[in-house]
Amino acid sequence: MKNILPSYIYALFILTLLAACEDNSKSSINPNGDSELALLMREMHEDGLRTKQQILDGETPEVKVKYHQLNTADATEPEKAASAAYKSFAAYYEATVKSLLESNDEKRAEQYQTMIDACMSCHQELCPGPMRKIKRLYLSDAELAKLAGQ
Ligand code: HEC
Repeated sequence: MKNILPSYIYALFILTLLAACEDNSKSSINPNGDSELALLMREMHEDGLRTKQQILDGETPEVKVKYHQLNTADATEPEKAASAAYKSFAAYYEATVKSLLESNDEKRAEQYQTMIDACMSCHQELCPGPMRKIKRLYLSDAELAKLAGQ
C-alpha cells in the first residue's frame, strides 16, 4: 500500500501539466480553475465561429473579442506567455486580425484563413492540445469554392 500515494501524486502532477493546454472547456480538470488566458481563448474561439458565419453570409466580418488582452492575460503557465516566441506569435496573430478587418470582399475568405493559420502556428509551438478544435474554424474547400463563385 505504501506505493499508492506517490504514484497518485505523480498522476495529479502530470494531469495539472496537461490541463494547461488541453481543451478543457467541457470538463474542467484544471484544479486551479481556468486562467484568464484560457477564458479569453475560449471567447476567441466562439468569436471565430461567428466571424466565419459572417463571411459565409457575405457580411462584413467583425472581431468582437478583446484579443489585445492576449498580451496581458494571466496564463496557466505564465512562463509560456512571457516567452519571446509567444510574443511574436501574438503580434503576428494581431496583424492578421487587422488585415482581415481591412480586407475587401474578394480577400476576406483568404485573410480569414490566414488568421486561423496564426492561431494554429502559436498552438503548434506552445499549446498543441486545442489544435483539433481550432482546425474546425477553417473554411472548408467546399465553402471556399462557394464563396469564390458568388
Ligand atoms: C500567441 C499564442 C496564441 C495564439 C495566437 C492563440 N492561442 Fe489559443 N492558447 C494559447 C495558450 C498559451 C493557451 C493556454 C491558455 C492557458 O491555459 O492559460 C491557449 C488556449 C486555447 C484554447 C483552450 C482554452 C481552454 O478551454 O482551456 C483554445 C480553444 C484556443 N486557445 C483557441 C485559439 C484560437 C481560436 C485562436 C485564434 C483565434 C488562438 N487560440 C490563438 C496560445 C495562443
